Amino acid sequence: MMAWLSELWGGGQALVEPASQRDATAFAQIHGASFHRGWGEGEFERMLSERNTLVHRLRMGRKTVGFSVSRLAAEEAEILSIAVAETHRGRGLSYGLLLTHLGHLAGRGVRTVFLEVEENNQPARRLYERAGFAVVGRRERYYQQNGGEPLNALLMRRDLS
Ligand SMILES: CC(C)(COP(=O)(O)OP(=O)(O)OC[C@H]1O[C@@H](n2cnc3c(N)ncnc32)[C@H](O)[C@@H]1OP(=O)(O)O)[C@@H](O)C(=O)NCCC(=O)NCCS
Repeated sequence: MMAWLSELWGGGQALVEPASQRDATAFAQIHGASFHRGWGEGEFERMLSERNTLVHRLRMGRKTVGFSVSRLAAEEAEILSIAVAETHRGRGLSYGLLLTHLGHLAGRGVRTVFLEVEENNQPARRLYERAGFAVVGRRERYYQQNGGEPLNALLMRRDLS
């Protein structure tokens, strides 16, 4: 199943599709550029082969420009990571990616979705709030920055009907 988002980008339409092993290289590149501790290609290959892990890719034309990854456990899931390549941010593309991902989780019987987000990560917090997530907890000094102050994490939750 795929979701047509919009024609926001001159290069073509944005598509959200189930990911495959062939996406591991692009995902590792986007993840490495988005987070302090990047996940390597091997890590993505492993997750893409696991039955309890759901991964979607965001594609613009022939280019993979984002991903969402979550882990399922019975009726609960945790979003482990979501990112859009820097060149494609700020256009609302992550919203369609996340909503499609949530729709697939619901289709697999998930009723509650959790995630952790760094407290100062405003774009991510705006995205999750718009997608119906609410803050249900706070973890002090949860993320260790390279050589910097530890950062707080917020735990967010959304129920899927
Ligand atoms: C979080 C992320 C996926 C959002 O993707 P995106 O497609 O650029 O998202 P959007 O264009 O919908 O922007 C999200 C919201 O953040 C806002 N925003 C964007 N940049 C911002 C900034 N620098 N400061 C504050 N708000 C900002 C947007 O206005 C939007 O809010 P709105 O819905 O109220 O208009 C993307 O920024 C990203 O990949 N970040 C790096 C990885 C990351 O942090 N992932 C989340 C980990 S929990």
